[in-house]
Amino acid sequence: MEVKILDGKKISEEIRNHIVNEVKKLKANYGITPGLSVVLVGDDAASHVYVSMKEKACKKVGFHSEVYKLPKETTQQELLNLINKLNNDEKIHGILVQLPLPKGIDEHLINSHIAPTKDVDGFHAVNTGKLFLGKESFIPCTPKGILELIKRTGEDITGKHAVVIGRSNIVGKPVAILLLKENATVTICHSKTKNLDKYVQTADIVVAAVGVPELIKGNMIKKGAIVIDAGTRKVNNKLVGDVEFEEASKKASWITPVPGGVGPMTITMLLENTLKAAKAQCE
Ligand code: GUN
Repeated sequence: MEVKILDGKKISEEIRNHIVNEVKKLKANYGITPGLSVVLVGDDAASHVYVSMKEKACKKVGFHSEVYKLPKETTQQELLNLINKLNNDEKIHGILVQLPLPKGIDEHLINSHIAPTKDVDGFHAVNTGKLFLGKESFIPCTPKGILELIKRTGEDITGKHAVVIGRSNIVGKPVAILLLKENATVTICHSKTKNLDKYVQTADIVVAAVGVPELIKGNMIKKGAIVIDAGTRKVNNKLVGDVEFEEASKKASWITPVPGGVGPMTITMLLENTLKAAKAQCE
């Protein structure tokens, strides 16, 4: 069986084209332009790259986009003041504070200060709680993109064994909850899991989100599995995922490449969440 590539770039393009049309309708019918503010504190090089990608993507679909680049000396109170201002700004429907934040700033406090209705990252405890309860909420962008990719395979998720490797609040935990909601049987593995290979070998769906390059070997993959790789690490100036791509491709039925798989979907889901926040204003 030939492996099929889950092309996140192509799928993103389709979704973004749809968003462009939705933005036009929103402007024409309600005079509303979706607005996103991205806040970046400090000089983490990777964060600067991600933020400029988000800014470009916003402009391309016709959103109003604002980026606040603050020095690493910014105090927690200064950041809270900016979030207050954005919470009350009618032009802004979504607020995202890029992580990681410099030491001395409490990430949880900052996220819980963003109005839940503008929390397009889905990191506020209200949205996390709603996700847990299976209620309508903003779903974190990477897990939402991963679920969309799995759905694009056309395979029925119900009853499948999904093994998630990684337990972060941003990816591992929420993706496990989403898969559970889709009636998968979910196992969460992490850095302390013993005999990781035994779990992965029984997985119909593998979601790797640990950030350890090529931790998941091709010989661990069950024949016909769907393999989603959310890992991105630079090794010798090349982006490498958590999965040994070439070898895993010999076993999987579907697989995401790195780059060009989960990455583009994350930004696309941020656009979807911002559009959703703007639409909520019309209700
Ligand atoms: N840093 C890495 N991923 C993310 C994300 O999805 N949202 C934010 N705000 N920061 C991140």
